[in-house]
Amino acid sequence: MKDILTLGIESSCDETAAAVLSGGRTLLSNIISTQTPVHRKYGGVVPEIASRKHIVNIMPVIDEALAAANVTLKDIGQIAVTYGPGLQGALLVGLSAAKALAFSLDVPLIGVNHLEGHIFANFLSEENLEPPFIALVVSGGHTSLVKVSDYNKFSLMGETRDDAAGEAFDKVARVMGLKYPGGPEIDKLAKEGNPFAIDFPKALRNEGYDFSFSGLKSAVLNYLNTKKLKKEEVNNADVAASFQEAVIEILTEKAMSALNSSNLNTLVLAGGVAANSALGQKLKTESKKRNYRYVSPKPALCTDNAAMIACRGYYQAQAGIVSDLYLNAEPGLVLKDL
Ligand code: KG4
Ligand code: ZN
Repeated sequence: MKDILTLGIESSCDETAAAVLSGGRTLLSNIISTQTPVHRKYGGVVPEIASRKHIVNIMPVIDEALAAANVTLKDIGQIAVTYGPGLQGALLVGLSAAKALAFSLDVPLIGVNHLEGHIFANFLSEENLEPPFIALVVSGGHTSLVKVSDYNKFSLMGETRDDAAGEAFDKVARVMGLKYPGGPEIDKLAKEGNPFAIDFPKALRNEGYDFSFSGLKSAVLNYLNTKKLKKEEVNNADVAASFQEAVIEILTEKAMSALNSSNLNTLVLAGGVAANSALGQKLKTESKKRNYRYVSPKPALCTDNAAMIACRGYYQAQAGIVSDLYLNAEPGLVLKDL
């Protein structure tokens, strides 16, 4: 029997994306149209502009994903689409396209939680990865430690109480005059700096699994302002490296402690910040020291994409968790057991 083809659709923020997946783990195509250059001049994503761009891009991106996979709509067996969390107007564009296609092709529609999608990017990167494991989800909107007991069983161990890790990267980059999105810029600049030059605060250390990054962000801002007032020179590379070190240390400590307390031995990294080279290096080293297995997504699957949505949708459909055509966008959707 031929493996089912899943068309994945993603439009929760500023990437319009479509992918075709065969079975659960064979990616046939993965097309991403990014709006980053459009939003860069505003220093962040402008929701209304994002929605309008998605409308323009959605069908061409789907067509391109089908063509790249060398299939047509008639070959598609099911459609997986992000329905939250994300920007309401942006989500509605992908969702409307997915519903229209599912209805006209008479195939199942599978509503996918974007955060679960990020975790599932790892199944496309590491062939023999299976639950249970601990997932550290670090994106522009979320920072969470999740216990993944099975393909459809997630429990939240902790999350950020204020800014997400990626958000802190972006905000600190902005005050340093770096371009949007700031994460990759800080990553690059930090390579030339000393991570131990400035001792920035590490909030909620040794206090459970919740995170807090807004104090760190303010500490960087205060540091820069004080230097400016005193007319002292600032070493931007040291600031970037020391800020990044503070984020990485706290993420690593809490991830290791979550593995230890749950008696699990596999750590999975997920979300846009997973693209950070120093974070990946540190998690790898610390996991190795403790004999834990460490898995991270391929670089192209770290930031928003539809391949991860197709993969998540495939495993949901396997368990019969599909949606109807009344499925609506849920901007504040959280991670929970299905
Ligand atoms: O997962 P994602 O693509 O979108 C959301 O679902 O939020 O994550 C985007 C976030 C942005 O904050 C971006 O600055 C951050 O991921 N990011 C990075 C790196 N690449 C992307 N942060 C640190 N280092 C990177 N190399
Ligand atoms: Zn994302």
